[in-house]
Amino acid sequence: MSFAHGKVILLGEHAVVYGHPAIAGSIERGVSATAQPAERASLSISPWNKEIFADESAAAEPLARAFARLLQTYDTTPLFRVSAEVGIPAGGGLGCSAALGVAVVRALDEARKQTRSTEDVIAASLEWEKVFHGNPSGIDSALAATRGLCLFRRGAPLENVRARKPLYLVIGNSGEPSSTAAMVSEVARQLARDKSRVEKIFDAISALVTNGRMSIEHGDHKDLGKLMDLNHALLNALMLSTSRLEEMCAAARHAGALGAKLTGAGGGGCMIALVEDSEIAVRVEGELRALSCEAFSVQTYAP
Ligand code: PMV
Repeated sequence: MSFAHGKVILLGEHAVVYGHPAIAGSIERGVSATAQPAERASLSISPWNKEIFADESAAAEPLARAFARLLQTYDTTPLFRVSAEVGIPAGGGLGCSAALGVAVVRALDEARKQTRSTEDVIAASLEWEKVFHGNPSGIDSALAATRGLCLFRRGAPLENVRARKPLYLVIGNSGEPSSTAAMVSEVARQLARDKSRVEKIFDAISALVTNGRMSIEHGDHKDLGKLMDLNHALLNALMLSTSRLEEMCAAARHAGALGAKLTGAGGGGCMIALVEDSEIAVRVEGELRALSCEAFSVQTYAP
């Protein structure tokens, strides 16, 4: 059985597409997969009730195209039936598609008794990810394949961020579907129209990431919470928040969160709230559920 992690971006989404750093942590929820020899290459995904045959659906929906593209990275088409179990919301900003891609690559490798480096797994799964959004920074695929809290910069090796204390996060799902491709294009459109404004926002986000890393390493979670609030405000200035996400972040702060922000592409999807301990996490979860949102807590991996 192979496994790939979901992820949360603590600071730096969108700017990361343009080469700025971002801090993200993998979470314990993700995608698991197995592969059995078969006459035809196929992928079944539960709980979505999906079954894709590589030889008949390559031109169809994105999932089928992504699967076909991934199989093309092998010298000969691997004939396996891959079964995947998805444990994170799709289109929610938690890196579901990348985790699926990494889990499928790992399941195929395991079944073919092939071993390769994490970097190679990430590279293969990026081919899958490109189908879903044309210009992925690679942060989702990298975190899906790695356990921990990391600083990611496009094209550079992942750097471990050594948290002084574990981080308690509450994840709230707005239930509004979010398209990473659409949100990344929206930011590209704004950048083309008003380069200097958007670049200033990216520079400000970059500074938050640098400071955030220090806050995490020093265990200063109050500071980190403030940086997350500021990051959210900057993402909002890029028109990536929604009234639902605003309402959720406000509710989380009101319930005692140290900071709250949208996570991932925005335009819907999930938000995260940083809390001091598991007791406040329960309170924040309750506030989010009172808004009819799915909410759960995660702890980033201890150093
Ligand atoms: O919404 P997600 O989980 O795919 O996160 C996207 C993160 C972005 O920075 C918006 C895009 C990217 O490729 O880095």
